[in-house]
Amino acid sequence: MNITITGTGYVGLVTGACLSEIGHHINCYDIDKEKISMLNQGISPIYEPGLDELIQRNIDKGLLTFSSDPEDAYRNADCIFIAVGTPANEDGSANLTFLEKAAIQIAEYITKDIIVVTKSTVPVGTNEHIGRLIQERVSASIKVEVVSNPEFLREGTAIHDTFHGDRIVIGSNNEETGKRIEEIYAPFQLPIVHTDIRSAEMIKYASNSFLALKISFINEIANLCEKAGANIDHVSTGVGLDRRIGRQFLQAGIGFGGSCFPKDINALNHIAKEFDYDFKILKSLIDVNHIQKERLFFKAKEHFGSLTDKRTTLLGLTFKPNTDDIREAASLQLIQDLLIDGAKITVYDPIAMPKVEKLFGDKISYATSAEQALEGSEAAFILTEWDEIKNLKLADIKVKMSDPIVFDGRNCFNLDEANKNGIQYFSIGRPAVKS
Ligand code: UDX
Repeated sequence: MNITITGTGYVGLVTGACLSEIGHHINCYDIDKEKISMLNQGISPIYEPGLDELIQRNIDKGLLTFSSDPEDAYRNADCIFIAVGTPANEDGSANLTFLEKAAIQIAEYITKDIIVVTKSTVPVGTNEHIGRLIQERVSASIKVEVVSNPEFLREGTAIHDTFHGDRIVIGSNNEETGKRIEEIYAPFQLPIVHTDIRSAEMIKYASNSFLALKISFINEIANLCEKAGANIDHVSTGVGLDRRIGRQFLQAGIGFGGSCFPKDINALNHIAKEFDYDFKILKSLIDVNHIQKERLFFKAKEHFGSLTDKRTTLLGLTFKPNTDDIREAASLQLIQDLLIDGAKITVYDPIAMPKVEKLFGDKISYATSAEQALEGSEAAFILTEWDEIKNLKLADIKVKMSDPIVFDGRNCFNLDEANKNGIQYFSIGRPAVKS
């Protein structure tokens, strides 16, 4: 089978690299010529652990090619995976412009029967729409089949997730087409869920929303723990050991960010509205997450009264570790809050400094290490649990800071340790350590 992947973002690139790793010939297509030229030199335009090596290995084997020529990408394709972005419109709905453009271009160049597989997260009914867009533009002798095949990979562990995912969802209204896509994935030996197109589209939104719900729920329990004198670490463990609930996604913190959860949850809310359904839990979890992102700021305000001219440090700026992605990261909200309050801000992140500098320029200062960022600081905020940050010694933090006061949004440190080291330590859902 000749397989083309359209869109070389996280999903497209990882899918292309992983499918070539299991032996398929994959042609990755993107309209962005600069990206394709980088990829042809074996350089990944995104930061994802292990991806550069995977790409280079399969280029060398002749299994992975990159092209910005639509004719080359589509003319001989038997199957086209679409993995273009579906960003949010202002009203929260999914913007399908890139997807529709890709479909129209596909119609222009295909020469034979085709299976179009959508990996992008799209509202219920979109695949049928895409199928129509293509079919009505090609000769009636060309059969166009569409398949919804949502992606569940996480940034930072995307390759592992592709090889060891919990399931592969194949939504098709034609059994034979579904089986052909199953064959492509067979070497991964993962459970396959065959379903209809609309259910597959819904599975993606339901999964992401449920995971986000778990996070907002545990964050609310954490906030209550603080008031009630309980400890969220113990509560999460006790709750998560119930196999009906499960331990994952019960890590309390400063809310979820990234390119998927916030966007997909708002999109599902929009879908619900369109079907005239009032999705109350969904609206609440969105509200909870907004408030949670400001928890550390409010804790600091409560502690200091005013933050004007306070020398503050932010450690970790990405929405989670092992990615350079700062989209919807809690750090961005905190920087804005601190700037409004007149604080002096120094930030450090192992990877994302250039992206943050692009946004805030000389309004804030940039350190080259966590230690340098902490020098002379009066309040340190921990926002991302990078290993480098978790492995800092509290004794060293104390020496570097002029006033050792730490607001930890990721519960990286042990309360006893903070106590022993004489650090004032405020975390999420655990008693404050006030020396
Ligand atoms: C998510 C889904 O996990 C993935 O299946 C989907 O395909 C894309 O969206 P991703 O956005 O890469 O993946 O990150 P994920 O690891 O799920 O974390 C999302 C956010 O939730 C992060 O900000 C993280 O810090 C936060 N989180 C996660 C918590 O606050 N607590 C947790 O217990 C887990």
